[in-house]
Amino acid sequence: MLGVMFRVSLFGESHGPCVGVLVEGCPPGVEVSEEEMNRELLRRSRGFMSTPRREGEEVFIASGVFRGRTTGAPIAIFLRNSDVDSRPYEVFRRRPRPGHADYVARIKYMGYHDHRGGGIFSGRITAGLVAAGSIARSLLRMWGIKIAAHTVQVGRSRVEGELSFEEVIKAEKSPVRCVDPEKSKEMMEEITRASEEEDSVGGVAEVLAVGLPVGLGEPPIDTLDGDLCKAIMMVPGVKGIEFGDGFKMAEMRGSEANDPIVLRDGRIATKTNRSGGVNGGISNGMPLRIRVAFRPTPSIRKEQRTVDLDSMREVSLKIEGRYDSCIVPRAVPVLESVVAIVLADHLLRWLSWMKFSGSGTR
Ligand SMILES: Cc1cc2nc3c(=O)[nH]c(=O)nc-3n(C[C@H](O)[C@H](O)[C@H](O)COP(=O)(O)O)c2cc1C
Repeated sequence: MLGVMFRVSLFGESHGPCVGVLVEGCPPGVEVSEEEMNRELLRRSRGFMSTPRREGEEVFIASGVFRGRTTGAPIAIFLRNSDVDSRPYEVFRRRPRPGHADYVARIKYMGYHDHRGGGIFSGRITAGLVAAGSIARSLLRMWGIKIAAHTVQVGRSRVEGELSFEEVIKAEKSPVRCVDPEKSKEMMEEITRASEEEDSVGGVAEVLAVGLPVGLGEPPIDTLDGDLCKAIMMVPGVKGIEFGDGFKMAEMRGSEANDPIVLRDGRIATKTNRSGGVNGGISNGMPLRIRVAFRPTPSIRKEQRTVDLDSMREVSLKIEGRYDSCIVPRAVPVLESVVAIVLADHLLRWLSWMKFSGSGTR
């Protein structure tokens, strides 16, 4: 389960009857638009040179929503799996794909797992996160909090510099969800080249959240950045996360890394945002800025080495089937969703303190 007040659990497997999500603890009265949810799910299912798998992406909301608003009861959302072809996956039980979860799943679940389409390790599982994320975003909107993500790197093609929220939302126009048209072209070329060479390519997406109050996060254990990392790591294929300047900070002096505290229109702000919106595990009121690195998609058509677990012999593996050549463009709406879920949870936790202790500062 993810979250303490706004709680999310996932169910379903890639090639089972459905995937879905259970959202508990969402307060009553939050607007839920099926249309918007389906639109977000469609964003998740389409990416440049992505798998040709085409699901209807029509949600079935079984409980917790009445006349377009949450009731306060648990919200159960189902998404049917219909476009499935499980045949290419049979061999992976015996011959695990390098980089994928086939081997660890077989050992962990003692062979009882549903391996079809990658089972619970498939990107398909993130559809439930996007459905829950749509509710979380609606809740956050009521408090003026907005989230957007974009692709900043594919292979060696990278967008430099810090972009504003208004710039980031323009990324949706690009097939790879990158704001820069020239870089978009380069990124598409990187993905096309990798695919032509029977390979895949990795990259980086950046998430921005604006409108956060100072005070989200519950250190020392449930820090905002720590909870965000847990949620982001739920997204399959994620291999690195950094806040603000992240790893670059390792080579800086304190005088370069510290964000000067200033007054902006009579309110406290920081001049720069190298910390990425979090200090001490608590939101500092500046935009949350998170960069997420994705591995190249593990399933590639190029011949690879693996072990046949039945005969315990090293063998070569040639993967057939439908795969994404680069995960990043499709992961953009998924990252927006997991960040929304964590922020919704921490906003509710913060508001419950405010109600108890008042909002004045001593
Ligand atoms: C939206 C999305 C789509 C994905 N598509 C594929 C795919 O087509 N083929 C594949 O091998 N992995 C794909 N992945 C990644 C694997 O699910 C992931 O690499 C695998 O579960 C192993 O987990 P790890 O990379 O986090 O260790 C996708 C991930 C996401 C988020």
